Amino acid sequence: MKNTINEIRQKFLQFFQKKGHTILPSSSLIPKNDSTLLFTNAGMNQFKDFFLDPKKKKYSRVVTSQRCLRTGGKHNDLENVGYTERHHTFFEMLGNFSFNDYFKKEAIIYAWELLTSKKWFNINKNKLWISVYKDDEETYKIWLNIIKLSPDHIIKIGDKNNCKYNSENFWQMGETGPCGPCTEIFYNYDIKKNNNFSQFLENKNENFIEIWNIVFIEYNRISSTKIIPLKYKSIDTGMGLERIASVLQNVNSNYKIDIFKKLIKQISCFSKITNLNNISLKIISDHIRSCIFLIYENISPSNEHRGYILRRIIRRMLIHAYKIGIKKNFFYKIVPNLIEHITEDFNFLKGTEQTIKEILQIEETQFSETLEKGLRILNIEIQKAPNQEISGKTIFYLYDTFGFPSDLALDICREKKIKVDLNSYYLEKEKQKKQSKIGNKFYNNGNNIININDTCNFEGYKKNTIKSLIKYIYIETKLVSLISEGEKGIIFLDKTCFYPESGGQIGDIGELYFKKSRFIVENTKKYGNTIGHIGKVITGAFEVNNFLYAKIDKLYRNQIQINHSATHLLHSALRKVLGDIVTQKGSSITNTRLRFDFSYPNIINLSKLQKVENIINAEIYKNHLIKIQYCSLEEAKKQKAMALFENKYDSIVRVVSIKNFSIELCGGTHTNRTGNIGLFKIIAQSSVSSGIKRIEALTQSKALQFLHNQENEIENISKILKTKSISFKDKINKLILQIKYLEDQIHIFQTKENQYQIKKIISNIENIKGVKLLINVFNNYNYNSLKLIIDQLKKDFQNIIIIFINKNNNYFNIITGITKNLTNYLTALEIIKIFIKHTNGKGGGKNEIAESISSNVINLSKILKIIKSWIHLKLNNIKDKIHE
Ligand code: SER
Repeated sequence: MKNTINEIRQKFLQFFQKKGHTILPSSSLIPKNDSTLLFTNAGMNQFKDFFLDPKKKKYSRVVTSQRCLRTGGKHNDLENVGYTERHHTFFEMLGNFSFNDYFKKEAIIYAWELLTSKKWFNINKNKLWISVYKDDEETYKIWLNIIKLSPDHIIKIGDKNNCKYNSENFWQMGETGPCGPCTEIFYNYDIKKNNNFSQFLENKNENFIEIWNIVFIEYNRISSTKIIPLKYKSIDTGMGLERIASVLQNVNSNYKIDIFKKLIKQISCFSKITNLNNISLKIISDHIRSCIFLIYENISPSNEHRGYILRRIIRRMLIHAYKIGIKKNFFYKIVPNLIEHITEDFNFLKGTEQTIKEILQIEETQFSETLEKGLRILNIEIQKAPNQEISGKTIFYLYDTFGFPSDLALDICREKKIKVDLNSYYLEKEKQKKQSKIGNKFYNNGNNIININDTCNFEGYKKNTIKSLIKYIYIETKLVSLISEGEKGIIFLDKTCFYPESGGQIGDIGELYFKKSRFIVENTKKYGNTIGHIGKVITGAFEVNNFLYAKIDKLYRNQIQINHSATHLLHSALRKVLGDIVTQKGSSITNTRLRFDFSYPNIINLSKLQKVENIINAEIYKNHLIKIQYCSLEEAKKQKAMALFENKYDSIVRVVSIKNFSIELCGGTHTNRTGNIGLFKIIAQSSVSSGIKRIEALTQSKALQFLHNQENEIENISKILKTKSISFKDKINKLILQIKYLEDQIHIFQTKENQYQIKKIISNIENIKGVKLLINVFNNYNYNSLKLIIDQLKKDFQNIIIIFINKNNNYFNIITGITKNLTNYLTALEIIKIFIKHTNGKGGGKNEIAESISSNVINLSKILKIIKSWIHLKLNNIKDKIHE
């Protein structure tokens, strides 16, 4: 393909290098020492000080391709991504900069030459249109008189709302910082309809796209009302690399250019979508790039600051994956392929792939639990919906409580032909805005602060619904007598069927209701000896001393019970296979999985884990009754019941037994028969701390789903290897042999090539006072071979200084070798240090051999001259004869 994104980037940099600009690397996505910006949002960010303070400027002309992220603050494109053909969260911005050097005229002439000259981008002049700031007569005249553009291709743009400098043609970095009027260059895809540029400016014509913004930095905004002129004038330009690529590749959409085409195709293969124009495909392809670059910058998903933005991007990407049928664990399968494509263009990302995969996978697992919880509640609401309509409050509640995305909820309602009263949604949202801050604090600390000296009878072993009396209500940490519609709080009852989070088992969810009043319970916890139902009033109100019905989410509870009983089986099976050394150290049991921590010093090998699984599944097939009985602690000990004996037990204990296979003291809830567990599968083993192992496992359909995923993975591998799984081993062994053979071949060719190179370059050897100096520049040469060549030359010549430069795509390796007899006078490390100083590179080494790497070698010939003079100086100072 012509004009690939890599070629365009290169051409841009070269063009401005020819015009006397220094090529500098992109700065990090996290702005250094600049608290006004969350992320680098423009090429000029890294030069902010050069614009503001003449003393700080290190260059006069610079050119870069800058990695940018526009997801917050003054420049936020997140919501547009996918819905337009041009917006991205992450993108590269090409820019040339002048600091008190050239100004308007040259900046415009350069831009025009690059865009229209046959030698460079060769764009038809008639397709280009210009906007200028209304008061900037000088720029207008440059376009008209110097570039000789027809006046109907230039439009003046004024201020919005009569507010000075509030204009599309006045660029500002953020709330404060360098700024100035700008002129923008637009490309018109629709050459026939020439006169609709003003329609475009009113958002009515999509054929025009802005490709280049040339900003005349003349001011510094120091507050929202104050702008001061700068001491000198500068140029800041920005051209979105993906946009100009869409023009030069003539595809009229950033999402059709080379890099995105690859990504979108890959994603679509995993989805049920065949139309590559699909919005979700675009969003995923955009967002995955942002995720990769943010994780590369050491940002991890969290609930605040940059981590929050990353989390939002990941979640948005997952929602869209969900929308196009890539659900749950399937999604992580796409990621490695996408990472591979992206790292092809950005070499420096290599080595981060594993971290990126792991972080995305953890986020995915967490968020899919949220999605599942939300979907369950939404489905219940939909089933109950009178007249096929549900309240917007429910949709908001799902978002507010579980983070369940409202647009997804609305989509589901639309699909099921359920109407949603959006008015109540927006009203609720407004109300919540006011309450939110206090609410969050309350949920974090509530159960430490609330202190109730009372008890609550737990009757949930047998009952799913119960009539109870409201004894206390807390809003935040305040005791109240009434809780009304829209309020979050904790309700305490005289008795309940809700199991409070304890013994590793999570708290129940469900609802409290009476007549038309409903309170959704999103968690249940112990508060001293009583039990708090945490949630929110959806309709009506609840008052202390009134009755209500408490009803758990039965399906949710069933799944927890199944996982709890499976945990008991696991405990016993582990002791049977690994011995009595296994004692329980902790557990976590939810509706989706179980986790068991236990003491065991060694790694448990696969065959032992499989033995554990076999034993457990055999007990499942026997479909034992799970028996609960109460007895004295003494009696339980006699029965050899297992327990966490560090815990304090009452004199009467609850014993859960599964035939003679497992007998445990336990307060948790269990399924009736082992057969309900269906299937048990261990999915991970890890070490929690020294001597403590952790096993994670799945049951029922989740276990089956896990096996299906494995099966799909095997199928994918067999497609890649083009063989059935039974022959994997043979095929891989064959491939390894082939690789070995090819490596040997390469070695033979490389050795020949090295000999050829040696013959070729020795003619360049110079003689300085009896010492030989060989400098040679290679292109993409095998690095190890360079070292071998140096070794051989040192042997052949014994009195030699060798300097090899190896130019790679984005960086330079410099390697220097010196024969030992010379190291009394000068060393390889000294030479490398000169390189490092002049290239901002990294490196090191010893007296006889040293190396460095740099991504920023400008004026190589100048640096080589410096090195040569230094060597001359060193050698000329030598008085004695150098001994070979
Ligand atoms: N700073 C300007 C922009 O981002 C030009 O580089 O549009």
